Amino acid sequence: MIYQIYPRSWADSDGDGVGDLPGITSHLDHLTDLGVDAIWLSPFYPSPQLDAGYDVADYRGVDPLFGTLDDFDRLVDRAHALGLRVIVDVVPNHTSAEHPWFQDALLAEAGSRERARYLFRDGRDDGETPPNNWPSRFGGPAWTRVADGQWYLHLFDVSQPDLDWTNPEVQAEFESILRFWLDRGVDGFRVDVAHGLVKEAGLPDATDETLPMWDQPGVHEIYRGWRRLIDAYEGERILCAEAWVESGEALARYVRVDEMHHSFNFRFLTTPWRADLLRATIDDSLRQAAAVGAPQTWVLSNHDVVRHATRLGRTDATDVVDTTGIGPGDPQPDPVLGLRRARAATALMLALPGSAYLYQGEELGLPEATMLPDELRQDPTWRRSGHTDRGRDGCRIPVPWSTEGPSLGFGSGRPWLPQPPEYADLAPDRQRGAADSTLELYRRLLAQRRAHRLGTATLRWVEQPDDVIAFDLVERDITVVANLGSAPIDLPHDREVLIASTPIGARGLPPDTTVWLSPRARPAVASSHGRV
Ligand code: NOJ
Repeated sequence: MIYQIYPRSWADSDGDGVGDLPGITSHLDHLTDLGVDAIWLSPFYPSPQLDAGYDVADYRGVDPLFGTLDDFDRLVDRAHALGLRVIVDVVPNHTSAEHPWFQDALLAEAGSRERARYLFRDGRDDGETPPNNWPSRFGGPAWTRVADGQWYLHLFDVSQPDLDWTNPEVQAEFESILRFWLDRGVDGFRVDVAHGLVKEAGLPDATDETLPMWDQPGVHEIYRGWRRLIDAYEGERILCAEAWVESGEALARYVRVDEMHHSFNFRFLTTPWRADLLRATIDDSLRQAAAVGAPQTWVLSNHDVVRHATRLGRTDATDVVDTTGIGPGDPQPDPVLGLRRARAATALMLALPGSAYLYQGEELGLPEATMLPDELRQDPTWRRSGHTDRGRDGCRIPVPWSTEGPSLGFGSGRPWLPQPPEYADLAPDRQRGAADSTLELYRRLLAQRRAHRLGTATLRWVEQPDDVIAFDLVERDITVVANLGSAPIDLPHDREVLIASTPIGARGLPPDTTVWLSPRARPAVASSHGRV
């Protein structure tokens, strides 16, 4: 169970409105109380913050916005003392334009060693046309021209130049960066844009059938090297790929026995709330991971997608999950339905064999901020898409810690993004101990998952109507039933409810609810010999 912390929005210790490392350290007990095993920290490195820290200017430091390296060491020590592992983000596809290497490249000439660390090319035709037709993931072309007429590649923002991973100097630098953090005691790395590092030789145009910038075979050789590197360290350390690839088979290639340990299962995240589609996703995912001898991973929310408590409240979206941001003027999802389904989806996910990733605040049932005024948006997606894609600010809102107080306990200053009014009632001080709260549901799910070791159980499907998902966790004698239909369904009589995602009455399992069932305890019957 790995819990993602987005440092700028977790807790602000110094009142500047942005979360920081001491803020994280001071709230780690929330996570031991919740019952997770590890935290993954999104980037906290020195950065101009033009993509919220995924634009790294120095890979071996801490941005003053978030604290110091000593703060980082204290965080790791405290986490380890509490039994929590610490995974950090590494961003190898691109640096910030403020990274000294890119600054040197701008000053150097075409063909120089400095330019060879990045993907500088001459333009086409008279040089005025970009070298190829690749688009940036944030909108617009993936190429920007520099003063002497050459172009550089940036698959993301113009401030995030792509590195050339065929260059041994780049490879050596990242191995050294990994060692730097491993030597400080980190337990692993989440690898940003893991499928993007190697581009097809010659940088050919993309076509309807080919995406020469993503998932090239050469990336795997890099991760084999990284695996050898981390395996040489004592203890268990892990690598996790962020790879938005075409198929489950392609995803599984990242977790072959000599590569990474995890790769985010984004197919699960993007599967609509439909029993047939979810069953197929779960089935395929388990099979594909097993084929390479890896555990499957599960995830429903992160800092790049609409929070699942809101996403699942879109009553119109049955076939396609659209993860682009929602703003004022857009159709507003139903928050009650969204939270009900989110709790059911989480209860389903946390029963599945493998590992799961949680995103900060989902244990509080936080919805996406869908009414954030456009002028406050900070995600470059909004600007680069020509104001057509609102981007990801709505899932990055500072976390509420208390019902009262400035920024609901996040910090004493004005938070970098405003919290919507409904966050007050979702603060942990309101939910802790409240039997039906989302926080208590997560605590129960995680405790039972741990007690029954569900992460290593075997899933066997149970006969079921079309709009129901039901399976046994064979060795653990637990049955999981999720009702995605529109009418209540009967539950087996020989089983009792261990956990329900929403309280259930006597009339069966209501729609949009998941239950974990265990064998009904036999009534104690006295025999003639007085034995029980
Ligand atoms: C994926 C990260 O999760 C996202 O937040 C970031 O914008 C891109 N990679 C670029 O680094």
